[in-house]
Amino acid sequence: MTAGAPVDGAPVDGDTRTYGIAAVPGDGIGVDVTTEARRVLDAVAAAHGFALRWTEFDYSCERYLRTGAMIPDDGVATLAGFDAILLGAVGFPGVADHVSLWGLLIPLRRAFSQYVNLRPVRLLPGTTSALAGRGADELEMVVVRENAEGEYSTLGGRHNAGHPGEFALQESVFTRVGVERVVRYAFELARTRSKRVCSATKSNGIIHTMPFWDEVFDAVAAEYPDVVAESCHVDALAARMVQAPDRLDVVVGSNLFGDILSDLAAAVTGGLGMAPSGNLNPEHTHPSMFEAVHGSAPDIAGKGIANPVAQILAGAMLLDHLGEGAAARAVEAAVEKVLTEGRVVTPDLGGTATTAEVGAAVAGAL
Ligand code: NAI
Ligand code: MG
Repeated sequence: MTAGAPVDGAPVDGDTRTYGIAAVPGDGIGVDVTTEARRVLDAVAAAHGFALRWTEFDYSCERYLRTGAMIPDDGVATLAGFDAILLGAVGFPGVADHVSLWGLLIPLRRAFSQYVNLRPVRLLPGTTSALAGRGADELEMVVVRENAEGEYSTLGGRHNAGHPGEFALQESVFTRVGVERVVRYAFELARTRSKRVCSATKSNGIIHTMPFWDEVFDAVAAEYPDVVAESCHVDALAARMVQAPDRLDVVVGSNLFGDILSDLAAAVTGGLGMAPSGNLNPEHTHPSMFEAVHGSAPDIAGKGIANPVAQILAGAMLLDHLGEGAAARAVEAAVEKVLTEGRVVTPDLGGTATTAEVGAAVAGAL
């Protein structure tokens, strides 16, 4: 365990397991939900005999407007010294979305080889699915999104700017190493769950990269005869997620397909306010980074009504990654208790509670 830089968290004695955690609350509701996740994580750490030493960073669009950069030149090197990163969300009206995404999130995912974006989806107790009538046992899956290459690439360009013949080209990058390692992660994960993997493809329409993806998927699948493997075109897979989600468990997809499918999967459960995510460096050679799937939600920013459940569950994933599985299960159980009671929930779930009231209720239920 590496120590974080300056300490603003719990005091630490020689016998306490201590983790240095970088908090990057970012913009909009990212700030509110990160405050509540920290409250819950500090409470569970105290109860489970370990300590989190938080260091907060102001990397955000607000910083970009002030200094011209989302993150300082030495920002990546600074974050590299932490055991994990808890990220809120970035994005603010007035700063183009590609500036905030490419100025912070994508560079961190790549610098730290967080090549798996793990996005668990399940219908929590007390919440109603868009697919009402389905029980919690019929709606549980996990999206494994390729997180370091694919359709999110800088290759391409704009040509003939301002002329009638103007056009834009955007290239995708699929490497054998990159596809194989994320597919392998999905098969290993499936062995701990239902032993089923479904790959999102589109090899009918996208004739170079997607057949290559399929080929690598099939080769890895052959090494896992105990796991049922199938490929499904991403459009049909989207329909299946809504119509027959019980037939899915581990879903693996490229950067873009995984991004879209995980918002869809979140929507068929409780909505974006419920969906956590982990940017994982499975080898633990760099810090992994945990965040809600949602963005900074400018439409509700500053109102104190953002649902912090997604960010609190991202905090539970962070604890799992640190090896604190018992504390992670305690956080999940506390969230489930609050949702089952149904009294303290935010407006997106039909309640009237504030972000802080939900955070306090979850911390209190630990
Ligand atoms: P969004 O996820 O911020 O919001 C979509 C809708 O869901 C909004 O109506 C919002 O009010 C609602 N919502 C999201 N989280 C919620 C929560 N915790 N509780 C209650 N309601 C919630 O996506 P949008 O509007 O497309 O993007 C807004 C900004 O966020 C943009 O600047 C975008 O680039 C950025 N963004 C950042 C991400 C990140 O930092 N990882 C991810 C997605 C978007
Ligand atoms: Mg997304």
